[in-house]
This record gives sequence, C-alpha cells and structure tokens, in this order.
Amino acid sequence: MAAMNKSEYRFSTKLVRGGLNRSPNCETSEALFMSSGYVYDSAEQAAAAFRDETDNFVYSRYGNPTVEMFESRLALLEGAEACKATGTGMAAVFAVMACQLQVGDRVVASRALFGACHGILTKTLPKWGIETVLIDGGDLDAWRAALKKPAKLVFFETPSNPLLELVDIAAVSKLAHEAGASVIVDNVFATALKQRLLENGADIVIYSTTKHIDGQGQLMGGAVLGRRDFIDDVFLPFYRQTGAAMSAFNAWVMLKSLETFSLRYDAQSNSAARIAQWLTTHPAVDTVFYSGLETHPQYDLACQ
Ligand SMILES: Cc1ncc(COP(=O)(O)O)c(C=O)c1O
Repeated sequence: MAAMNKSEYRFSTKLVRGGLNRSPNCETSEALFMSSGYVYDSAEQAAAAFRDETDNFVYSRYGNPTVEMFESRLALLEGAEACKATGTGMAAVFAVMACQLQVGDRVVASRALFGACHGILTKTLPKWGIETVLIDGGDLDAWRAALKKPAKLVFFETPSNPLLELVDIAAVSKLAHEAGASVIVDNVFATALKQRLLENGADIVIYSTTKHIDGQGQLMGGAVLGRRDFIDDVFLPFYRQTGAAMSAFNAWVMLKSLETFSLRYDAQSNSAARIAQWLTTHPAVDTVFYSGLETHPQYDLACQ
C-alpha cells in the first residue's frame, strides 16, 4: 500500500504523528536531540552545509532535528507551507515584525492585544521610525479608514487576550491586501483546531505555544507559520542572526503535549462555556466577556 501523504492525515492523527522523523534507530517516540552542533563526513560536506547547499543541520540556533519535528507538525496542523519555532511567543511576535519592517513603514493593528504585543507596537516600533496605528478591530469602517493609506503590515489577535474580542479575518485580510499589507494573526486562543486563518486570507500565523499547545504550565515557546518563501527568505535570516530559536527540550515536550491537545482544548472550552453561562446568572457579576454567549454582540462572528 502506498504511504499516505501526511497532509491528508486527519487533524487528530497529525497531532500525534505529524512531523515524526525517525532516526536510523527506528524509535517509536520522537527523539530528543540535545546537541548544539553537528558533524560531517568531510570538510567539503561541512563547507557545503555552512553555505546552505545541503539539508544538513549546522547549528541549533538555525535548526535542530527535534525542533524541526515540532515545526513540521505545527505546519501540518495549520495548513502552512513552513514554520519556525521560537523561544517564547513574544520572540515570535517581535521577530515576525522586525524581520519585515524598516524606518518609514506603517503598521495597522487592532487595539485589543496582549499587553506585551501592545508594547511592541506603541513603544518599540515607533522608537525606530515606524508608524503604528491602533484601531477598534471589530469595526470594519475603522479598518477601512486606517487602510486608506498604504501599510506594510496588519496585525491582530482574534479572539483577543483577555476580553475575547473578535476580528473578521476574511474581511480585514481583503482590506489589508488592497492596501498592500501582509496580514499577521496571533492564533493563540482559537488555534488551528478551531480557526483556519490561512484559508481565510491571513498571510502569517503566530503562536505563543506556552498557552494551549504546551497547555500544562511547563514551558515557554512560540511559532511563526506562513509561505515557504516568506519563512526562508525573510524570516529565517533574521531568526538565525538574532537567536529567537526554541530549545530542543522545549520542542520535545511540546511534541508530547500536542498528542493530548484536542482532548485538553475541548475539555477546557466546554468548561469555559459552562462557567461563562453560570456567571451571567451570578448577582455579583455585571458583564461577562465571552463571545460564545448568544447575548454577546459578536456572537454571529464567533459562530463563523
Ligand atoms: C495572545 C498572546 N500573544 C502572545 C503572548 C506572548 O507569549 P509568551 O508569553 O509565550 O511570550 C501571549 C501570552 O500570554 C498571548 O496571550
């Protein structure tokens, strides 16, 4: 029987089997390659590897076999051509912007962002001569107005942390592309299990894998996913030079965590929905911010 293409696996099979690359020892579980460097058969092979002319690993700041298995699994789950894993979610957020921006560029973003992402947009990037415009991400007219002027990047989180505000991914991606901008979306909350960003127009997806992907409060991590040419030609040179890499140990634990990902995620989501519902009946609670409630103004978008 012909081997099945891994992109045809079901989501739950990808969580367990995606990206597995066995060593010649034929181990059942993913191997943990705790190595900073790699050896070669000859000086010529080493030189070719360092010139990027072969697929050999060179140095674990650039790539590592265990980290690569995690990256391949995430790419399969997201439906992305390529992925690079980072040491934290913030390393992913910063690197994905810094590798593309230069003085004079413009970034339009939703205001409902995780605090440190907000800080990159309001404090770090403006210091380097980059204009950043923050708007109400749920308001398409606000996106239209902000994107009348060309922009290099559009950035948003949906659902946002912590108030679960939503952005219409397809509509905003269309407006962004018309303004010449690439669309970066932080998919931490909904994840590839519930939200298909690339199929809805986003160009680049980022994660803090510290959240649901590890999901057990153990480790920090992040990831950047997108087209192969973006990852190889734009992201990778910056990543390699600035040291955003994930450690092999963290990648190995996260590979194991992914095996239980959908079980944990569904259980947590069901609990969250029940808690949100219960809070609406609690006399001490004024407002419940949960877009899965029918009374929430963005309920229809949440269902989409
Ligand atoms: C939506 C979102 N983006 C990015 C981050 C940053 O990730 P990390 O803490 O792994 O650096 C977080 C962390 O809470 C987050 O919730």
